Amino acid sequence: MANTLGIIKPDGVRRKLAGKIISKIEDSGLVVRGIKILRLSKGQAEKFYAVHEGKPFYSTLVEFMTSGPIIVMVLGGHGSIEKWRELMGATDPAKAKYNTIRREYGTSIEKNVVHGSDGPETAKTEVAFFFREDEILPKE
Ligand code: CMP
Repeated sequence: MANTLGIIKPDGVRRKLAGKIISKIEDSGLVVRGIKILRLSKGQAEKFYAVHEGKPFYSTLVEFMTSGPIIVMVLGGHGSIEKWRELMGATDPAKAKYNTIRREYGTSIEKNVVHGSDGPETAKTEVAFFFREDEILPKE
Protein backbone atom coordinates (compact mmCIF):
# COMPACT_ATOMS: atom_id res chain seq x y z
CA MET A 1 0.00 0.00 0.00
CA ALA A 2 2.90 2.35 -0.80
CA ASN A 3 2.25 5.95 -1.79
CA THR A 4 3.53 7.40 -5.04
CA LEU A 5 4.16 10.90 -6.34
CA GLY A 6 2.05 12.45 -9.08
CA ILE A 7 2.74 15.78 -10.76
CA ILE A 8 0.50 17.78 -13.05
CA LYS A 9 3.16 19.59 -15.08
CA PRO A 10 3.07 23.27 -16.15
CA ASP A 11 1.35 22.42 -19.47
CA GLY A 12 -1.45 20.60 -17.64
CA VAL A 13 -2.02 23.42 -15.15
CA ARG A 14 -1.79 26.10 -17.86
CA ARG A 15 -4.33 24.28 -20.03
CA LYS A 16 -6.73 23.90 -17.06
CA LEU A 17 -6.59 20.10 -17.18
CA ALA A 18 -6.10 19.65 -13.42
CA GLY A 19 -9.78 18.96 -12.65
CA LYS A 20 -10.09 16.34 -15.39
CA ILE A 21 -6.85 14.65 -14.33
CA ILE A 22 -7.81 14.55 -10.64
CA SER A 23 -11.22 13.09 -11.60
CA LYS A 24 -9.49 10.31 -13.54
CA ILE A 25 -7.24 9.64 -10.53
CA GLU A 26 -10.19 9.36 -8.15
CA ASP A 27 -12.31 7.34 -10.60
CA SER A 28 -9.46 4.82 -10.89
CA GLY A 29 -9.60 4.10 -7.17
CA LEU A 30 -6.40 5.96 -6.30
CA VAL A 31 -6.63 8.18 -3.22
CA VAL A 32 -5.25 11.72 -3.10
CA ARG A 33 -3.43 11.80 0.25
CA GLY A 34 -1.62 15.09 -0.25
CA ILE A 35 -1.82 17.93 -2.76
CA LYS A 36 -0.06 21.29 -3.29
CA ILE A 37 0.31 23.83 -6.05
CA LEU A 38 3.76 25.40 -6.32
CA ARG A 39 6.34 26.66 -8.76
CA LEU A 40 9.73 24.94 -8.86
CA SER A 41 12.90 26.99 -8.76
CA LYS A 42 15.62 26.10 -11.28
CA GLY A 43 17.66 24.50 -8.49
CA GLN A 44 14.73 22.39 -7.31
CA ALA A 45 13.92 21.19 -10.84
CA GLU A 46 17.59 20.32 -11.44
CA LYS A 47 17.65 18.35 -8.21
CA PHE A 48 14.33 16.58 -8.83
CA TYR A 49 15.47 15.46 -12.30
CA ALA A 50 19.15 14.92 -11.34
CA VAL A 51 18.95 11.34 -12.67
CA HIS A 52 18.60 12.83 -16.19
CA GLU A 53 21.57 15.22 -15.84
CA GLY A 54 23.75 15.04 -18.94
CA LYS A 55 20.96 13.79 -21.21
CA PRO A 56 20.21 15.94 -24.27
CA PHE A 57 16.76 16.92 -22.97
CA TYR A 58 17.87 17.86 -19.42
CA SER A 59 18.14 21.64 -19.80
CA THR A 60 14.87 22.05 -21.74
CA LEU A 61 13.16 19.76 -19.23
CA VAL A 62 14.31 22.00 -16.36
CA GLU A 63 13.22 25.10 -18.30
CA PHE A 64 9.81 23.56 -19.00
CA MET A 65 9.25 22.36 -15.43
CA THR A 66 9.99 25.84 -14.06
CA SER A 67 7.84 27.63 -16.67
CA GLY A 68 4.74 27.79 -14.46
CA PRO A 69 2.99 26.29 -11.46
CA ILE A 70 2.73 22.54 -11.00
CA ILE A 71 0.42 20.45 -8.83
CA VAL A 72 2.16 17.80 -6.76
CA MET A 73 0.16 14.95 -5.24
CA VAL A 74 0.70 12.01 -2.95
CA LEU A 75 -1.33 9.16 -4.42
CA GLY A 76 -2.19 6.10 -2.38
CA GLY A 77 -4.30 2.98 -2.55
CA HIS A 78 -3.72 -0.58 -3.65
CA GLY A 79 -0.94 -0.84 -6.26
CA SER A 80 -0.70 2.95 -6.48
CA ILE A 81 2.67 3.10 -8.25
CA GLU A 82 1.62 0.79 -11.11
CA LYS A 83 -1.93 2.11 -11.25
CA TRP A 84 -0.77 5.72 -11.66
CA ARG A 85 1.78 4.70 -14.31
CA GLU A 86 -0.92 2.87 -16.24
CA LEU A 87 -3.26 5.83 -16.02
CA MET A 88 -0.53 8.20 -17.29
CA GLY A 89 0.57 6.02 -20.20
CA ALA A 90 3.99 5.90 -21.87
CA THR A 91 6.35 8.91 -21.63
CA ASP A 92 5.89 9.69 -25.32
CA PRO A 93 2.19 10.57 -25.85
CA ALA A 94 2.40 9.22 -29.41
CA LYS A 95 3.29 5.78 -28.01
CA ALA A 96 0.89 5.85 -25.05
CA LYS A 97 -2.18 3.61 -25.06
CA TYR A 98 -5.62 5.06 -25.80
CA ASN A 99 -7.51 6.36 -22.78
CA THR A 100 -4.33 7.30 -20.94
CA ILE A 101 -3.71 10.87 -19.78
CA ARG A 102 -0.61 11.36 -21.91
CA ARG A 103 -2.29 9.96 -25.02
CA GLU A 104 -5.30 12.18 -24.50
CA TYR A 105 -3.60 15.41 -23.45
CA GLY A 106 0.17 15.19 -24.09
CA THR A 107 1.58 17.23 -26.96
CA SER A 108 5.20 16.01 -27.05
CA ILE A 109 7.60 13.66 -25.23
CA GLU A 110 8.57 16.64 -23.06
CA LYS A 111 5.17 18.29 -22.65
CA ASN A 112 3.54 15.10 -21.48
CA VAL A 113 1.26 16.69 -18.84
CA VAL A 114 2.01 14.40 -15.88
CA HIS A 115 4.81 12.71 -13.99
CA GLY A 116 4.78 9.62 -11.81
CA SER A 117 7.38 7.76 -9.76
CA ASP A 118 8.78 4.72 -11.56
CA GLY A 119 9.21 2.36 -8.58
CA PRO A 120 9.02 2.00 -4.79
CA GLU A 121 12.40 3.59 -4.00
CA THR A 122 11.82 6.55 -6.34
CA ALA A 123 8.31 6.96 -4.93
CA LYS A 124 9.71 7.31 -1.41
CA THR A 125 12.33 9.90 -2.34
CA GLU A 126 10.02 11.82 -4.69
CA VAL A 127 7.19 12.04 -2.13
CA ALA A 128 9.70 13.21 0.52
CA PHE A 129 11.03 15.82 -1.94
CA PHE A 130 7.70 17.70 -1.72
CA PHE A 131 5.88 16.51 1.42
CA ARG A 132 6.64 16.23 5.12
CA GLU A 133 5.14 13.16 6.82
CA ASP A 134 2.58 15.32 8.65
CA GLU A 135 1.31 16.74 5.35
CA ILE A 136 0.21 13.30 4.12
CA LEU A 137 -3.15 11.82 5.12
CA PRO A 138 -2.67 8.49 6.89
CA LYS A 139 -3.73 5.25 5.23
CA GLU A 140 -7.21 4.16 6.31
P1 CMP B 1 8.86 12.32 -16.72
O1 CMP B 1 8.09 11.09 -16.50
O2 CMP B 1 8.57 13.50 -15.87
O3 CMP B 1 10.41 11.97 -16.58
C1 CMP B 1 11.41 12.70 -17.22
C2 CMP B 1 10.85 13.66 -18.21
O4 CMP B 1 11.79 14.06 -19.18
C3 CMP B 1 9.77 12.98 -19.01
O5 CMP B 1 8.64 12.77 -18.23
C4 CMP B 1 9.62 13.95 -20.16
O6 CMP B 1 8.90 15.11 -19.78
C5 CMP B 1 11.08 14.31 -20.37
N1 CMP B 1 11.68 13.47 -21.40
C6 CMP B 1 11.95 12.18 -21.34
N2 CMP B 1 12.53 11.74 -22.47
C7 CMP B 1 12.63 12.79 -23.25
C8 CMP B 1 13.13 13.00 -24.54
N3 CMP B 1 13.67 11.99 -25.24
N4 CMP B 1 13.06 14.23 -25.02
C9 CMP B 1 12.53 15.24 -24.30
N5 CMP B 1 12.04 15.10 -23.05
C10 CMP B 1 12.09 13.89 -22.54
